[in-house]
Amino acid sequence: MDQVVVITGAATGLGRATALKLATQGYKLVLVDFNEKDGLQTTEDSKSKGAEAIFVKADVSNEEDVKNYVNKAVESFGKIDYFINNAGIMIPFRLIHEYEINEYDRIMNINVKGAFLGIKYVIPVMLENGGGTIVNTVSSNSFKPTAYNGIYSATKHALAGMTKSIGQDYQTKNIFAVGVAPNTMKTNISASAAVTFTDEVGAAIHASTGPNIPATAEEVAEAVTFAMTNGKLLTGSIVNCAGGQIYN
Ligand SMILES: NC(=O)c1ccc[n+]([C@@H]2O[C@H](COP(=O)([O-])OP(=O)(O)OC[C@H]3O[C@@H](n4cnc5c(N)ncnc54)[C@H](O)[C@@H]3O)[C@@H](O)[C@H]2O)c1
Repeated sequence: MDQVVVITGAATGLGRATALKLATQGYKLVLVDFNEKDGLQTTEDSKSKGAEAIFVKADVSNEEDVKNYVNKAVESFGKIDYFINNAGIMIPFRLIHEYEINEYDRIMNINVKGAFLGIKYVIPVMLENGGGTIVNTVSSNSFKPTAYNGIYSATKHALAGMTKSIGQDYQTKNIFAVGVAPNTMKTNISASAAVTFTDEVGAAIHASTGPNIPATAEEVAEAVTFAMTNGKLLTGSIVNCAGGQIYN
């Protein structure tokens, strides 16, 4: 197997779980994150499972960093077959009018602009190589917002929109895009949101969420790899991993 996968947000959570799953299947891995310590750990763990893997430190919201990780992938492995566009953050739970402009800018820069920059610089490499598949990590919040999570939800609606547009616009170019939408996945991402958690916020989130079965990052990584290897079939669609919360 000489297929090359670039994964952003590979240091922890879903990105790390996806890297470790692919590491046993012979893919060449380009692992990207701004968390160097944990990113290097994922890289070492991938290598010890048998993968060829490199780590590139990058802030996905920085255009030069994005150009650099794309260039490093091509320099190291010659092409990009799959792009797992996964890095993302949450911000504190608030009503929309309570958000500070800097909180809005930060999450839009990472979750929307960062995802766009990756797509912008990976697609030319895929075109050169005759095609490829992009997997965007969206969210159940791409379908229905949970309470006190309006700006995060807006970012994930935006990324779902980009996924559908790629599905529509690149069919004849052999480039496919699939969204994977986790719901309650057991990672640390919500720690930064939970700083504003109160009983009132918790009750509202619970009421807006409804019953669902939480997933591990390893379980959602199964959906990511399924989406990755079935791009032609699934392009433009979102794989709903909501554990019974959302039906669509
Ligand atoms: N955990 C959930 O319940 C859940 C639900 C729906 C969607 N998601 C999405 O799943 C994706 C992965 O999140 P996770 O749950 O594994 O959390 P996580 O915090 O473990 O992983 C996110 C990774 O992205 C990296 N990252 C964040 N900002 C970055 C930046 N600017 N540049 C480079 N790397 C950056 C982090 O360092 C981290 O390694 C995110 O896009 C998130 O929005 C998570």
